[in-house]
Amino acid sequence: MCGIIGYIGNKEVYPVLINGLKRLAYRGYDSAGIALFQKNKATVYKKKGKVSELEKYCSDKDTGGHAGMGHTRWATHGEPNDLNAHPHTSMKGIFTIVHNGIIENFDKLKSDLSAKGYIFHTQTDTEILADLIEYLYLEEKVSAESAVRMALLKVVGAYGLVVMCNDEPDQLIAARKSSPLVIGIGEGEYFLASDATPMIEYTKSVVYLNDNDIAILTPKSFTLKTVDQGEEKAPDIRELEIGADEMEKKGYDYFMLKEIFEQPRTIENSLKGRINTDNKEIVLGGLTNVMPRILEARRIIMIACGTSWHAALIGKYIIEELARIPVEVEVASEYRYRKPVICPNDVVIAISQSGETADTLAAIRPAKEKGALVLGVCNVVGSSIARETHAGIYTHAGIEIGVASTKAFSAQLTVFILFALKLGHIRKTISDQRYSSVIGELLSVPEKIENILMSFPKIKEIATKYSGINNAIYIGRGCLFPVALEGALKLKEISYIHAEGYAAGEMKHGPIALVDNKLPVVVVAAQDRYYQKVVSNIQEVKARKGNIIAVITKGDNNLKNMVDDIFEIPESDSVVTPLLAVVPLQLFAYSIAILRNCNVDQPRNLAKSVTVE
Ligand code: M6R
Repeated sequence: MCGIIGYIGNKEVYPVLINGLKRLAYRGYDSAGIALFQKNKATVYKKKGKVSELEKYCSDKDTGGHAGMGHTRWATHGEPNDLNAHPHTSMKGIFTIVHNGIIENFDKLKSDLSAKGYIFHTQTDTEILADLIEYLYLEEKVSAESAVRMALLKVVGAYGLVVMCNDEPDQLIAARKSSPLVIGIGEGEYFLASDATPMIEYTKSVVYLNDNDIAILTPKSFTLKTVDQGEEKAPDIRELEIGADEMEKKGYDYFMLKEIFEQPRTIENSLKGRINTDNKEIVLGGLTNVMPRILEARRIIMIACGTSWHAALIGKYIIEELARIPVEVEVASEYRYRKPVICPNDVVIAISQSGETADTLAAIRPAKEKGALVLGVCNVVGSSIARETHAGIYTHAGIEIGVASTKAFSAQLTVFILFALKLGHIRKTISDQRYSSVIGELLSVPEKIENILMSFPKIKEIATKYSGINNAIYIGRGCLFPVALEGALKLKEISYIHAEGYAAGEMKHGPIALVDNKLPVVVVAAQDRYYQKVVSNIQEVKARKGNIIAVITKGDNNLKNMVDDIFEIPESDSVVTPLLAVVPLQLFAYSIAILRNCNVDQPRNLAKSVTVE
């Protein structure tokens, strides 16, 4: 979703902003713009489309300056066009702002400002905020910082905001509520961004803004205050652990493909240091202090969106099987508005790659208020969810750039298996033998995935056969049912083919009506305890002339002869099978999307980090 970059210091600001916007492009956007302080005044350039369009537009313009800000916009209020692109300037031209989030009371603010003579040029809520700051600045005769604080106290909604004031040049003012902002601290320079990716090549020292924080940056100083009281506070400076090379494609055509192929290493990283090789004890350092509370839990509630929700569904199967604790899985956007029953002896787990998903973040707050223990399973270190939860487990998948989540999903599953094994071992709900054997299985997953990846040419061939389809159904049972959901989501989001996932047993209750000789049905059918049931489902589809593509266990000649096409995966314990079964489905979706000339890394309408609801 929208991305913000800001810089103030000795460097030429334009290249920092343009490179920063390119780094933020993975978040998803439809227009881009920059504002540069030039001769004590903000100069704004903005364009609909990619950052390259903006660069082209700026190529014959004066782009000098040492302070400024940039923005990639993912449209909420008003269509994507040059006018609605950020930055936005207040009516009298004193303030220029970039903004992520949504100003929910913008209609009311707009009519108040309109009554005071303000005229509006765009359809955005951001322009209203720029005008409100300007109005208060002139009316109350206060500093730019005070005007920003006063305006923000009138705002209902979410914001990550950067403000430039022509009367107070060489200063950037940034504030946050529910929309992330990070400040990078360099030598005589400061960076600002929605996430750390645009600044990792310049600095490793960062401060994550919290809600109600306002930061005032000059080339020489950085002051952090509260929005409501204006009280100065000490910044919590942290060190980034990511390297700039993680942002490169490393020879792959797309980040998504690179990330699919990285999965063996991802899983090794998720496991690293977490299984004691001497005594096979599982070490989840982030949970040590809260383990007694987890062990007393009456139930676990997992909250997530999208792919992370699919991972949570698989987590439910695994935790219930190995640790025998009841698990409920909730879609965050529903949960946050329900009146859920939450008890102090519940453990709530928020699962999120980005750690910034607005719905997931909002869903954990009432759980905290009701006294539940709230844990985070996040990939992005220092992200909002990671900071707002009591404790948690990082997935260590590395930066995921492709909008379609792949390696982050595998890392989430790996963490759930470790978590379930640890609980099951302590609670004695699994035998020592099963415990050791699942650990062994988990350790063998990277090699097994390498094996599956070698079949990419064959998967591409099968994808060619199906690249013209308009619909597909994915089915599975047990913990392979959410794998079917995930396979369908991957196909849908990057190739724009309508695909739905179902529990295989549900076919008879409706979806089977769709089956004819044109509909491909992708069946996730490993040799687990559901196998015979899935074989029956396959027979039923075959009897209606449906085309079956099946993920099968290597050597399963029975299914090989029964279905149209196969993706083979090595034999494995049922709790680790999802980690293997999802890989051919990711490659299948990727291959079809490429054959249909789709931009797999930045699919239309989608954003990597969904920071507004
Ligand atoms: O960062 P999160 O894991 O919280 O993101 C949740 C979803 O927005 C995300 O998984 C989305 O569904 C992806 N596009 C899936 O590929």
